[in-house]
Amino acid sequence: MENVFQSRSKAKATVYHLRDVIRDRASEGVTFRLRVPSLQISQGEKIALIGESGCGKSTLLDMLAFISQPTELAAFRFRPELEDDAVDVAKLWKRKRMNLLGDMRKRHIGYVMQTGGLLPYLTVRENMALSRVVLGLPRDETVESLARELGIARHLDKLPETLSVGERQRVAIGRALSHEPSIVIADEPTASVDPFAAEKIMSLFIGLAEERNITVVVASHAWRHIKRLELRRLAHHTHRSKDGRTTETVVNG
Ligand SMILES: Nc1ncnc2c1ncn2[C@@H]1O[C@H](COP(=O)(O)OP(=O)(O)O)[C@@H](O)[C@H]1O
Ligand SMILES: [Mg+2]
Repeated sequence: MENVFQSRSKAKATVYHLRDVIRDRASEGVTFRLRVPSLQISQGEKIALIGESGCGKSTLLDMLAFISQPTELAAFRFRPELEDDAVDVAKLWKRKRMNLLGDMRKRHIGYVMQTGGLLPYLTVRENMALSRVVLGLPRDETVESLARELGIARHLDKLPETLSVGERQRVAIGRALSHEPSIVIADEPTASVDPFAAEKIMSLFIGLAEERNITVVVASHAWRHIKRLELRRLAHHTHRSKDGRTTETVVNG
């Protein structure tokens, strides 16, 4: 057996522990680098990554969801539940254990995309139940009660295209929560709705996460919509090389 598990720590559970993680992306002769010297996220924390388009928000979120792999890294550990041991994600990446990483994502993480990512041929109910079906979780009242809390219960049997953009984002949030994950990652979940609706949806989302003690990492380009929610804001800065060919964003927190 491979030993990818670390010994239990008595300290408060650290869900993510990253040290010296780098992700490079190059396109058309321009190189972008995201560098994370140190990042610790504790269980139940609500984290915000706020920054302009192109600063690397999705790049970081996709690594936290094991969707994309760092170019270089010193440490990347993940401990979704207090009663579990920390998983050495760096080791799993090195050994190309993509199935295991995928299983871990499906079980423990909910992901909300900017444009919802709902399946157009499934009803709202089916979309919301999808993450439960994938895991073989029982059909119970979870989807209906989430839909009520999100104010979309009357739309459960409709197709997503018949809903407004804001309603669809509520469905996307419901889908990310329905399998009862311990972490939810939201990539600009309210970017395509008006500021008033954005604030409302975001506060609904954070409230639901708070009730369930879910760890949240949310990216946004607009601080205004979420500043009242008292999230912990990750520090980051971006610098460009003199010739403009390299951009680096450094995130710490
Ligand atoms: N698939 C990709 N291939 C190459 N470069 C990419 C790719 N996706 C994003 N980038 C570049 O990486 C940088 C960070 O992008 P991203 O993480 O998507 O930023 P944000 O989410 O903050 O808008 C940008 O310069 C972008 O052009
Ligand atoms: Mg993005």
